[in-house]
Amino acid sequence: GRTWTDVGDLGEASAGRRVLVRGAAQAIRPVSKKMAFVVLRQSMSTVQCVLVASADAGVSMQMVRFATSLSKESIVDVEGVVSLPKEPLKATTQQVEIQARKLYCINRAIPTLPINLEDAARSEAEFERAEQAGEKLVRVGQDTRLNFRAIDLRTPSNQAIFRIQCQVENKFREFLLSKKFVGIHSPKLISGSSEGGAAVFKLQYNGQPACLAQSPQLYKQMAICGGFERVFEVGPVFRAENSNTHRHLCEFVGLDAEMEIREHYFEVCDIIDGLFVAIFKHLNENCKKELETINRQYPFEPLKYLKKTLKLTYEEGIQMLKEAGTEIEPMGDLNTEAEKKLGRLVKDKPLPGSSPLNFAGLALHSPAFLQCHLGPAGEEIISGAQRIHTPELLTKRATECGIDASTIASYIESFSYGAPPHGGFGVGLERVVMLFCALNNIRKGSLFPRDPQRLVP
Ligand code: 4AD
Repeated sequence: GRTWTDVGDLGEASAGRRVLVRGAAQAIRPVSKKMAFVVLRQSMSTVQCVLVASADAGVSMQMVRFATSLSKESIVDVEGVVSLPKEPLKATTQQVEIQARKLYCINRAIPTLPINLEDAARSEAEFERAEQAGEKLVRVGQDTRLNFRAIDLRTPSNQAIFRIQCQVENKFREFLLSKKFVGIHSPKLISGSSEGGAAVFKLQYNGQPACLAQSPQLYKQMAICGGFERVFEVGPVFRAENSNTHRHLCEFVGLDAEMEIREHYFEVCDIIDGLFVAIFKHLNENCKKELETINRQYPFEPLKYLKKTLKLTYEEGIQMLKEAGTEIEPMGDLNTEAEKKLGRLVKDKPLPGSSPLNFAGLALHSPAFLQCHLGPAGEEIISGAQRIHTPELLTKRATECGIDASTIASYIESFSYGAPPHGGFGVGLERVVMLFCALNNIRKGSLFPRDPQRLVP
């Protein structure tokens, strides 16, 4: 086969080399009958190809005409010699040009695309500048983007966002593997609900009523009962809630972990600390190009992390809220309002041992559950808990919570064969990406988002 070069690898060192690249024709600019520019894009990188009709180079006027007849976004192969431009190039990421010798169209795009990619890639500041200058530029709305996602995904920021997402997932696995966790896959077709509060997608399973798992919760605990000391799972989570908000999806990627606890629930918190320090450090140190690319369209300050997550006992958290005028009923859950408020209180009044960096992590202990909040808005990204590990207490709590214990009999039974104390947590992958990059909508962090209104594409 021939040797292909990646557009992103083209630099000064490539000058004088003959290269072969493939990309999408992002912009086509005819200059004269004898000259044209074609900007090729490959993922986050773009390069300008120069076509000049000349017998020496073997480039004909027909070839120049053919290049200018290409529709935008057509897939094109260009063979040519890399040269250094006379002036810095503003319109491309790569600071070299390709003096084209050959150009092949591999597959044409339709002449009029439903989204103008240049507009789709502009920052809000650019739109505002253009407006002030009296220019008319069209903003691409969120629904239009999602309706034509296969085009929208080509913007540099989207290319970067999903590379960041992949890195978060990868670091999650890597870190937990290094802490002796075992990766598992639990069933997504299950017989009953797995998260009390949230609604389920119902379906028929060979004539039996069933539903899509709202989390791996029950099964990751049963894996602990099954003798795996520490487990994690990366998989789809289904929620049928009718939540039309900037942070809820009906299907998201759950990053879940469950582990034996030897002495204290804070062992789980320590894993979370280490995990998020590792993830954020990795993103800040190794994904600079991606972060800069996102920043150009959606300006943000990448989040830093606390070396140690601030840990509050449940009582301390409740007390802080009480002092600020919010009463929580004894042993009660925190509602969204209270969560956010506590997040703000913690940020405004750093407790001893917390650092001034802006990762507002928070763990509430006893009754062991925790929630971690992230970003300037202090939104939830993690929730977790120490679990009940005796069948008697499980049955009692289920009944108190209005759950018919017989519907989760096999789960409860698992704890009667000898089950260690354990706890764990769940993280929403899209939420981490959204909050780390300060995106204003979780849909930006989901490749093909599923929300109450959207099942296509
Ligand atoms: O808070 P949730 O519902 O907790 C659980 O699923 C527990 N089983 C976790 C545990 O181990 N105890 O969901 C966990 C995380 C949330 O903190 C949030 O980041 C994300 O999943 N999440 C959502 N992300 C997108 N859309 C939704 N509708 C989400 N609901 C929760």
